[in-house]
Amino acid sequence: MKRLRTAIIGLGRVGWQFHLQEAARHQGFEVAAVVDPLPERREEARAKFGAWGYPDHRALLAAEALDLVVIASPTQFHAEQALAAFEAGCDVFCDKPLAPSLAEADRMIAAAQQHGRKLTVYQPHRGRVETVALQDILRRGLLGAPYLMKRAEARYVRRNDWQAFRAHGGGMLNNYGAHYIDQLLYVAGSPAKRIRCVLRTIASLGDAEDVVKALIETESGVMLDVDINMAAAQEMSPWQVLGARGSATLDLGARAWRVRYYLPEELPPQELHEGLAAPGREYPRDPAIPWREETFPLANYAGVDFYEECYRFFALGEPPFVPIEASRELMRVLEACRADAG
Ligand SMILES: NC(=O)c1ccc[n+]([C@@H]2O[C@H](COP(=O)([O-])OP(=O)(O)OC[C@H]3O[C@@H](n4cnc5c(N)ncnc54)[C@H](O)[C@@H]3O)[C@@H](O)[C@H]2O)c1
Repeated sequence: MKRLRTAIIGLGRVGWQFHLQEAARHQGFEVAAVVDPLPERREEARAKFGAWGYPDHRALLAAEALDLVVIASPTQFHAEQALAAFEAGCDVFCDKPLAPSLAEADRMIAAAQQHGRKLTVYQPHRGRVETVALQDILRRGLLGAPYLMKRAEARYVRRNDWQAFRAHGGGMLNNYGAHYIDQLLYVAGSPAKRIRCVLRTIASLGDAEDVVKALIETESGVMLDVDINMAAAQEMSPWQVLGARGSATLDLGARAWRVRYYLPEELPPQELHEGLAAPGREYPRDPAIPWREETFPLANYAGVDFYEECYRFFALGEPPFVPIEASRELMRVLEACRADAG
């Protein structure tokens, strides 16, 4: 088995808790080196994974011959580090978002092409088990044509790390928006056409937004309604998909999608009245609809193994799980959200 000599840049939450563990677990990766400005984190990586530590990416690339560089540093450093990696002849697996701006993301994509290197982005929500389950429900056609997908993440956090600062590429549009907008575009399977967005800073201690309200209409006509709200004292329903004949709601407590729909062949006829007196003074109700209810437990599905997908892409030449064109579309939408919010 071909082993990819790999370095991980940034040993923070996602670098340490996800990338390092997953790369070390997969036979196809040799975690040769790590980068972090904090010496205690480099030492921790040496002690636990036997990976040599460097204080910055320049020292890493000057000293090591690598196949792959994984970038999990704060977002503002992604472009500079990716460009240096491409110049040094390495492929790049970058954490989301690619960069704080579309222009920087485009520079990264152009540099990958120019140097003939591969670039893909870690977008875990595409491979989450609830996404896989929803795609199965949509494939079965139970809901009819989907027209609205609502995604919400709501809690109350007085944000106090670098993600609280605009200057560091923080803010919840870049942070969680890069997850949920990408996830909805992926499920809808169509590029964004009309984009409206409001950004507010409510509970955060920094200057970057912690409330994001975005409404995106895809070219295929699906409305993507995104609430990322870090100033909400109560939860919101995390995910709902509405179709012409039914809807699906993610029940996180029960770890299942709950689906309510009808079959067109079971629908009794309904008369349309054009007169200007509502028959029988009745308010509109539709009690005759023969609703069916089904539950789709997430336990029946498997999420995507990202490092396995990475291995297939970087080592075996298979198509990427997250095509760079999709990451570019996400960056375009994030930029349009920022522009619309003003
Ligand atoms: N895909 C996901 O699920 C997910 C989850 C969390 C974060 N992220 C992304 O990963 C990146 C890192 O976020 P985090 O939450 O892990 O941050 P973090 O604050 O937990 O960790 C950042 C780490 O990078 C180090 N660092 C700082 N400056 C550096 C530099 N110039 N070069 C190399 N390392 C440097 C810090 O010392 C720290 O160890 C961000 O782009 C973020 O958006 C993605």
